[in-house]
Amino acid sequence: MPVCAVLGGQWGDEGKGKIVDVLAEKAHVTARFSGGNNAGHTVMNPEGDFKLHLVPSGIFWPEGMAVIGNGVVVDPDALLEEIGGLRGRGVDLDGRLLVSDRCHLVMPYHVVLDELGEAARGDQAIGTTGKGIGPAYTDKAARIGIRAADLFDLEALYPRLERVMGHHNAIIEKVYDAAPVSLAETFDRCKGWASALRPFVGAVEHVVYNAVGAGKTVLLEGAQGAMLDLDHGTYPYVTSSHPTIGGASTGLGLLPRDFDSILGVFKAYSTRVGSGPFLTELFDETGDLIRELAQEFGTTTGRPRRVGWFDSVAARYSARVNGYTSLVLTRLDVLDSLDNIKLCVAYELEGKRVEDFPGSAAVLERCKPIYEDFPGWDGATAGVTNIEDLPEGALRYVRRLEELSGLPIDVISTGPYRHEVVTVRQVV
Ligand code: IMP
Repeated sequence: MPVCAVLGGQWGDEGKGKIVDVLAEKAHVTARFSGGNNAGHTVMNPEGDFKLHLVPSGIFWPEGMAVIGNGVVVDPDALLEEIGGLRGRGVDLDGRLLVSDRCHLVMPYHVVLDELGEAARGDQAIGTTGKGIGPAYTDKAARIGIRAADLFDLEALYPRLERVMGHHNAIIEKVYDAAPVSLAETFDRCKGWASALRPFVGAVEHVVYNAVGAGKTVLLEGAQGAMLDLDHGTYPYVTSSHPTIGGASTGLGLLPRDFDSILGVFKAYSTRVGSGPFLTELFDETGDLIRELAQEFGTTTGRPRRVGWFDSVAARYSARVNGYTSLVLTRLDVLDSLDNIKLCVAYELEGKRVEDFPGSAAVLERCKPIYEDFPGWDGATAGVTNIEDLPEGALRYVRRLEELSGLPIDVISTGPYRHEVVTVRQVV
């Protein structure tokens, strides 16, 4: 399977990092294509426990390349810190990590603008990760962004930075009444990034193009999830990029025909961080229990995640906008200790049954979930690696999710470690 995309099917945090770590054994290239260090991918393997924000989770398999595509926005300090942390723990990155010279940089003023913008939105705040992601993508679309390649022509960079920062500092001072960001300090940081990042920046699209042309396996690591997509998510409570399959194409320079398998990663329940509609959200002790059992706290921000039941209306929509070839189910083991599990099969709006996910967040807020009850199962799925060893009730739940989504579940994750996985069908 030359190109396999691993995409978040829900609101992010589905466990994509672990799945990519498992599948990357067979990959020649593992690639990120969207988002930035708002992502937090947890990987637990024989090398140790890692939290990655920018570096692709395939980095732990020494034979493969790990690349960051043009669609990603890169905070140079965050990347350098991650590189230093990985090196310090013995992970070899030399010649194996490549960042596209077309990547836009998340600059210090983007982080300031993110924080000030959120504070100004008051009770309508999006609940961003505060990493400057939205402002960096805004500058990209406004054609005033700074790209990785720009670091290597400091003479040309200075006047551009001066102009861009003049604009942003005017907003910071006049709209938000806050302290401006220093141009001199920012330029100094650019000089430091230029030398530190030099060995890692290059033409990612050629690496990907050549690998695809040679029939090698390229694994794409999605960040966030379909329901946070700028267009397809619950706008305006979304991120500023495209975690869906279209983003994988533009974020790496891949052609639509290049995709062989598109895996939708779904938790056996749902979580969401930040604001926005979440119909199946639990506000009771079951929600608290799941949060504690699964340690549902943000990898990037530490915020407690909102927890709810699996929403198959959202899942069907997610499948439609991504064209999944099959699904990966994660964190099934978290449901092991529950007596009763609910599954949202449709919504109700003003007395009518709704099967299609509404496009408006306001309409969505008015919908009510229609649930199907599922008895908990005797026995544990935790650590199971063989489908025959799953408790009967758990298997029934898996089969029902397949029916409701219309897609087969090819991989089931039963714990955080690399080996805790049931492979129903090989996907790469
Ligand atoms: P931003 O991407 O920091 O602008 O945040 C926009 C929305 O996306 C907020 O609701 C965040 O909580 C959410 N978000 C961004 N990245 C992630 C992620 O990796 N996992 C889960 N939620 C995320």
